[in-house]
Order: sequence, then C-alpha cells, then structure tokens
Amino acid sequence: MGHNSAAYLHLLAESMKLAYADRSEYLADPDFVEVPVAELTDKAYAARQRKLIKANRATPSAQITPGRELAQESQDTTQYTIADRHGNMVSNTYTLNASFGSAIAVPGTGMLLNNEMGDFAARPGGANMFGLVQGERNKIEGGKRPLSSMSPTIVFRDGQPWFATGSPGGSRIITTVLQTILNAMAFDMNAATAGISARIHHQWLPDEILAEQGISPDTVRLLEEMGHTVKLGGRTIGRTQSIMFENGWLLGATDTRRPQGWVAGY
Ligand code: DON
Repeated sequence: MGHNSAAYLHLLAESMKLAYADRSEYLADPDFVEVPVAELTDKAYAARQRKLIKANRATPSAQITPGRELAQESQDTTQYTIADRHGNMVSNTYTLNASFGSAIAVPGTGMLLNNEMGDFAARPGGANMFGLVQGERNKIEGGKRPLSSMSPTIVFRDGQPWFATGSPGGSRIITTVLQTILNAMAFDMNAATAGISARIHHQWLPDEILAEQGISPDTVRLLEEMGHTVKLGGRTIGRTQSIMFENGWLLGATDTRRPQGWVAGY
C-alpha cells in the first residue's frame, strides 16, 4: 500500500475507530479505575479486533462498540455470600462446571449450557477433569444428578446463623470450606483471616498433599518424614467469600490472595 493511498488510510481509519471505541470505555486515571493494559496490548486481542475490519468498506461507527472481548470473567465457579441486618444469611455456589460450561449457548437467550456431566464418573475408576476418581454409584444414569463438591455452608451458633462461607474450586471446594470453617470455629480466626490462611488439599487420588505458599518448609519436611508426598505452589486453593456475625457486626471477607476477589486472578 502506498503512503496515504486510500487503501492505507482506510485501514488506518478503521483501526483508529476500534482503538478509540476501546479508549471511550476502558481508559481513565488508573488511580481510580483498573485499566486493562495487558489485555488491550495483547497481540491475540489485536488479531481478533483486526477481523472486524472489512478490507474495502468502512464500518459505520454506530456499529462499533468497545471491545467486549476484554470483559474479564473468572473461569471459576461463582460464590456469593449475603447477610441482612436481621442476621439472615445466604451462601450460594453456582457453576457451569468448566469455563463456559459445554460452550453451547441456547439460541436467542445468551444462556450457556453447563457441562455438569463431567461430575459423573463417565468411566467408573477413571479420573474426571478435577482428577477425581469415582465409582459405579456415580455412573451416568437417566434422571440422576451428578455428584457435586459445591459446599455453600452456614454455621449456626446458639440457633442463629453465625458464619457463612463457600468457594469455587472444583474438587478443592470441600477442603477449602472445611479449613475455612475450622479456622473460624476451632482457631477463633475472624472472617478475613479464616479465608486467607494457607490451605492444603488432599483428595485421596492422586496420593499427594497440595500445599499453598505459606505452609512452612519445616512443616512440609515433617509431613514428608511422615510419609506424605507434598506438592507445593500452584493456584490458590479455592477463593472464599465469607460473612461472620460477631458482636452485632456483620464482617464480610473475600479471599484477597486472588486479586480483588471478584476478578480473574491467579
Ligand atoms: O459441582 C461441582 O463439584 C463442580 N461442577 C464444580 C466446578 C467448579 O467449581 C469449577 N471451578 N472453579
């Protein structure tokens, strides 16, 4: 393309339109809002945006919107925990199972179908996407619900809701919730500390303890001496959303080790 040829200026103008549409939505003082710099400058994003440009035809600006590809969604199951001033509590775990579920949307609805079938033992004795090995009882049968690890939990004290929590994390949900409520109940931790203290996970198979950063090397060595295989690091195990009702106060806490609790974080 020659300098300032129509073909060149067309592509330039179309690129500018897309960039300015993104600017209109996403750019502002980063002290106030989170600007998705990494996503905006991602080559893969540029490649997707490039496909929106027609080689020989201007796309009216009215048909151009800020890049929706950028919308940051966690690939995880959703946990929300709610309480009101009367002390009523709700803990809800909601999932499509894998990210985008079955990746099939119901036409005209925007609703994605889940792939919860993966929670059945598709092949009894084999491992599913979470590495869970399950038996005959959880095999696929008509009208049967797959076995879930989701554990939205409300702990009562003196007949009143006291501590509500829950987490995403597939097979790690159960162990995450277990340790969070043990932290609160047995170790007297507040809602925040209970949800961010280093966790471990063991799901029978594979025969290993998964340990988060923060489990001391000394402890790991002692566990190994006891015959445990310890695998260190990786993603934070689960992400709790908790509320504790304490001395008339509702104390809410997210797992801040995954950035902002609500955004995709690793
Ligand atoms: O019900 C279950 O146990 C799974 N379908 C949960 C999936 C899940 O948590 C995925 N990601 N975080």
